[in-house]
Amino acid sequence: MTQPITLLGLESSCDDTAAAVVRRDETGAVQVLSNVVFGQTDLHKAFGGVVPEIAARAHAEKIDHCVERALDGASLNLAEMDAIAVTSGPGLIGGVMSGVMCAKGLSAATGKPLLGVNHLAGHALTPRLTDGLVYPYLMLLVSGGHCQFLIVRSATEFSRVGGTIDDAPGEAFDKTARLLGLAQPGGPAVQSEAELGDPKRFKFPRPMLDRDGCDMSFSGLKTAVLRARNDVMVDNTIKRQDVRDLCAGFQAAVVDVLAEKTKRALTQYMLEDPSIPALAVAGGVAANTAVRAKLESISAELGVQFTAPPLALCTDNAAMIAYAGLELFEAGQRDDLELSARPRWPLDRASAPMLGSGKKGAKA
Ligand code: KG4
Ligand code: ZN
Repeated sequence: MTQPITLLGLESSCDDTAAAVVRRDETGAVQVLSNVVFGQTDLHKAFGGVVPEIAARAHAEKIDHCVERALDGASLNLAEMDAIAVTSGPGLIGGVMSGVMCAKGLSAATGKPLLGVNHLAGHALTPRLTDGLVYPYLMLLVSGGHCQFLIVRSATEFSRVGGTIDDAPGEAFDKTARLLGLAQPGGPAVQSEAELGDPKRFKFPRPMLDRDGCDMSFSGLKTAVLRARNDVMVDNTIKRQDVRDLCAGFQAAVVDVLAEKTKRALTQYMLEDPSIPALAVAGGVAANTAVRAKLESISAELGVQFTAPPLALCTDNAAMIAYAGLELFEAGQRDDLELSARPRWPLDRASAPMLGSGKKGAKA
């Protein structure tokens, strides 16, 4: 029996303004008491990507309201929180600052401890919140902004064993959808077209499979899709079956790359002799049924437990920030009003920085 710990979490690093309340009760079980997300998709729709200035303003306008809703949803007030956790990077700096300023204000007004949380750590620790995974486990983070393999050893120890050197897979799905006139976000649209297509008709590249290691590249795939589309277009129009076959070919290439690199990352992870070997996947692309099925079958083959948190906790949210904050709080971390917003903040300081930047700003 331990004292319950309750945290408020705030997230504003990209295009979702979010607040949540998470509690570890006296039995050690963790519950998400509320999880409020205000998405900004409509605000950015006309621009074909997230506009940092628009995002920052929308976060600043919404965050107080979001906090109020999260506290109401949990039927608690600020005085009942043990600490306030906030994403303090990496991400779009204006958005991160909105959350950090709000959290500092709440901390200063209530005297509650403040905790700066790495957004990627929030994603990486989610399988502990949802499935109680024990350390160490392998995490594949695949979304519109992220793509990396992490061996997660504790709330503060991560080894990145590979990642994309350019686009994230979600970006590739979104760009492919745009090329083929499909709706955004592109992932679900491409997936449903792919289900009716022939994955073998177009031969798309499987980038970087010929190179050792677990790094990946997805930017060349969209160029390959563009070329193949141009080859089959007549009078600027494209037949529905061509769209389906292009989607199926593209998706098969992404699945093959993720599958091969996951096998390699798992081999590296198994060298650590984990007590309960586990692979977890998170991020919007984890919703893809073909990706998920492939990762599941690889895990089964290698005798590794496979976990994919529910989508609402896989995509950007504040419950994951509150939960990561909870582990940091238990480990003794405390920040103060000097806490700063960090656009770049790699989880694994020992590995080389990721190149490029995605729709969420710097990749890490
Ligand atoms: O995690 P998320 O909501 O936000 C980011 O961190 O980016 O992921 C959104 C991304 C988008 O690029 C979207 O196209 C992709 O996840 N996505 C999918 C599917 N559902 C969402 N990609 C492939 N297949 C899906 N079913
Ligand atoms: Zn994220």
